[in-house]
Amino acid sequence: MQIKAIKGKLESQAVDLLIVNLFQGVTKPGGATGAVDKALSKLLTRLIAEEKFTGKLNQTLLVRNQASPLPAKKILLVGLGKKACINTERIRQVTATSLKLAKKINAKTVASILHGAGEGKIKAFDAAYAMATGLQLADYSFTKYQVKKAKLQAKLQLKSFTIVDHNKDKVSAANVAITVSQQSSVGINLGRDLVNEPGLLVTPKYLVNQALKLASASSLISCQVLDEKKLEKLGAGALLAVSRGSVEPAFLIHLTYTPKTKNSKRIALLGKGLTFDTGGYSLKPSSYMSTMKIDMGGAATVLGIFAAITATKPEVEIHGIIPTSENLISGKAIKPGDVVTSLSGKTIEILNTDAEGRLILADALAFISHQKWDAIIDFATLTGACMVALGDQVAGLFSNDDQLQDALLSSAKAEDEKIWPLPLVSAYKKSLESNIADIQNISKGKYAGAITAALFLKEFVPVNTPWAHLDIAGPAYADKDFNPYTSAGGTGFAIRTILHFLKNWK
Ligand code: BES
Ligand code: ZN
Ligand code: ZN
Repeated sequence: MQIKAIKGKLESQAVDLLIVNLFQGVTKPGGATGAVDKALSKLLTRLIAEEKFTGKLNQTLLVRNQASPLPAKKILLVGLGKKACINTERIRQVTATSLKLAKKINAKTVASILHGAGEGKIKAFDAAYAMATGLQLADYSFTKYQVKKAKLQAKLQLKSFTIVDHNKDKVSAANVAITVSQQSSVGINLGRDLVNEPGLLVTPKYLVNQALKLASASSLISCQVLDEKKLEKLGAGALLAVSRGSVEPAFLIHLTYTPKTKNSKRIALLGKGLTFDTGGYSLKPSSYMSTMKIDMGGAATVLGIFAAITATKPEVEIHGIIPTSENLISGKAIKPGDVVTSLSGKTIEILNTDAEGRLILADALAFISHQKWDAIIDFATLTGACMVALGDQVAGLFSNDDQLQDALLSSAKAEDEKIWPLPLVSAYKKSLESNIADIQNISKGKYAGAITAALFLKEFVPVNTPWAHLDIAGPAYADKDFNPYTSAGGTGFAIRTILHFLKNWK
């Protein structure tokens, strides 16, 4: 689908479908919607009353153009909700809703009003960015394993979606926004694919190949892969312990993006790459295990970010660190009560083999600890407890640095991703004290599981380093459609937020 903005009159576009909008409670359309209505001899005004079109968010009314001089074949009126409530999230949703409807009626060419940029007073750039993102995320489907659905999807593809506005400056801002959105959407949709693919395909080796592919596609990205032999030599005992029960070898992936700018800040992005989590001998019940192919969601976020930065080119040196392994059972698998020596030198008593994410991340943190970082951020589908606290659409954010935390929260807000701060309660650290090792991998208490997991990670964070941990156990995966642009499956969560953060980091 080609997305672009052009200067012109909406009512003169000869397209299969013309999209106009209405705020809730408005009965006489104004602006571009008004101009279209006029060309239709006030048909919209009449239908708004007859069909009880209230303008509620995501409400739609499809009108066939019969005898008017307007060249468009059909007109779609979409509800924007109350004028006072208009924001980029609503624009993204409304655009996604209209794309789905356009596909349903097999429209190939669509022209649309720039939602919210008129009376809604949203900046043209922001409105177009939200529209373009809504389009590309709603256009995503994972039908690789569904022959009939895949064929249908291919048939229903749009050729073009054109945003039309009479203001030249708004149009040029919109075109810049569309490009930015296209660059990040590529990364988000890669992240979704990686989570959606089953564990049969997505093994640690598969993630390695993905990273190598990203590096070979860009001169700014290089990739170093540590195999089990190297990991053993290094002493990555925690990662290797988790991997023991699997025939698939573990790896530690190290991607480096070097910007053209000199003396830039350095950041490390760590992603949990657990390609399947059975829980190990602390076995998960079947109903909890069935979705555990998603346990590499953190790695998918990091790879998605790397796929996008080849185009967005942030002026930051970015390292992507992915410890990757399966967590299975065999005669060689670790057992509850085992003690291992991690890469940091700290010994860990593994009392629960299902708390494996923190183990592989502990080694990843130790791996980068000899270098100086301006920030470290890790992404992990780490705890069910975080979902108990925040539900399945909100990620928990933990940080030892207020400035980093605030910057991440403000990027999340700008991108309408739901992230909520949780505290690193130092008093709870006691619950990780082991009787026979330096630390144990689960808390003695039964509460605050997301916090104690974060406190465990904190023990391995290099000293004096701003660090943030995002527990994405909930939002990495949607078990049903979250909204019109986030369909069931992998979500690519946090990619938009981090790309925004990297662009604006001071
Ligand atoms: N991968 C899971 C966490 C998870 C749960 C991710 C649900 C996505 C959805 C993690 O490895 C795990 O099993 N954590 C345990 C920790 C516990 C044993 C302390 C959990 O949350 O139950
Ligand atoms: Zn687990
Ligand atoms: Zn896990």
